[in-house]
Amino acid sequence: MTMNSLRRRKRISHLVFLFFVWPVKVQLSLERDTPSPSNVFSESEYLVSPNKLFWSMFFNPENSSNRYLGIQHMHTEMKIIWVANRENPFIDIDGYSHCFLNITEDGSLVLSDGNATSITINSESPAPSSNTSATRLNTGNFVLRAEEEVVWQSFDYPTDTILPGMKLGLFDQNLKQNKTRKYFLTSWDGPGHPASRIFTLGIDPNNTDQLVIWRRDIPYRHSGKWNGKTFSNFHNIKNYDGIQFSYIPNRSESYFAYNVHTHYSSSWI
Ligand SMILES: *[C@@H]1O[C@H](CO)[C@@H](O)[C@H](O)[C@H]1NC(C)=O
Ligand SMILES: *[C@@H]1O[C@H](CO)[C@@H](O)[C@H](O)[C@H]1NC(C)=O
Ligand SMILES: *[C@@H]1O[C@H](CO)[C@@H](O)[C@H](O)[C@H]1NC(C)=O
Ligand SMILES: *[C@@H]1O[C@H](CO)[C@@H](O)[C@H](O)[C@H]1NC(C)=O
Ligand SMILES: *[C@@H]1O[C@H](CO)[C@@H](O)[C@H](O)[C@H]1NC(C)=O
Ligand SMILES: *[C@@H]1O[C@H](CO)[C@@H](O)[C@H](O)[C@H]1NC(C)=O
Ligand SMILES: *[C@@H]1O[C@H](CO)[C@@H](O)[C@H](O)[C@H]1NC(C)=O
Repeated sequence: MTMNSLRRRKRISHLVFLFFVWPVKVQLSLERDTPSPSNVFSESEYLVSPNKLFWSMFFNPENSSNRYLGIQHMHTEMKIIWVANRENPFIDIDGYSHCFLNITEDGSLVLSDGNATSITINSESPAPSSNTSATRLNTGNFVLRAEEEVVWQSFDYPTDTILPGMKLGLFDQNLKQNKTRKYFLTSWDGPGHPASRIFTLGIDPNNTDQLVIWRRDIPYRHSGKWNGKTFSNFHNIKNYDGIQFSYIPNRSESYFAYNVHTHYSSSWI
């Protein structure tokens, strides 16, 4: 192997995009593990999906006094697959954290450090009523519902991991505002730094049937066209036994997603 390809491998190793497959059927479960009756989910608690695969918890990365709310997959080396406040960590001042997640009176999900700082997780999608509940589903999705309607879901705010049922793409959800929403994956800045910095994986706005990896906002790799089975340059993303990728384009949205009908396995690209 040449130095060049070694160097390339090293750089790409910062890019941990994870594709999951798990043993049970992909099912949306209405069973819930919601925050406690007080509607506050605190430090030292875990919100666990009914199938016990996905756990939400507050965590500090190794050697860091930054505190985050994350979702961990209990297989796959306990990978943190989603971070609520990756750009806005709380800081443990005295080495002790008092963070909690609250469902507030107006129906919002609010993260707080127990002191002066709070972050409204669903600020882009305010709840229409205060009758909300938060649920961790078997798929790994964390949803906020008001009167049974989903108001906000973690699947709409990917971190660096795509799970079956998530979408990777471009969405013109609000044509009146002419805003395109990007559901892209962005790598952590480094092992102890969930903040998104270097690599992004998403759909090429110029050719929506292709994926692109950007490095610091500059196109770095193009996947080539999706041929229904794989990409000409990204061979790791392909349909094989039990894994089915699909490309769904139309005038207002274009995305890739995948489903799984097989036993547990996982891979990084
Ligand atoms: C944490 O610090 C130790 C000692 O300085 C170091 O060996 C280790 O690699 C660090 N871990 C991370 C994830 O930075
Ligand atoms: C959670 O939010 C409710 C309603 O907004 C508020 O009354 C309560 O004090 C909050 N809980 C904490 C621990 O701050
Ligand atoms: C609480 O907030 C005050 C004012 O911002 C700050 O001086 C103090 O250090 C904070 N304490 C903790 C434990 O975060
Ligand atoms: C709250 O929503 C649930 C359904 O999610 C419904 O059964 C209940 O009646 C609602 N409560 C109020 C006070 O609107
Ligand atoms: C939306 O953006 C496109 C391209 O920037 C522009 O041509 C179009 O007029 C805009 N539509 C609205 C409703 O603002
Ligand atoms: C899309 O096309 C523009 C104009 O040619 C170019 O600047 C940009 O880098 C292209 N984007 C990607 C992801 O290739
Ligand atoms: C695009 O597809 C989505 C779901 O697949 C659908 O909800 C939406 O109405 C479609 N939009 C157009 C313009 O066809």
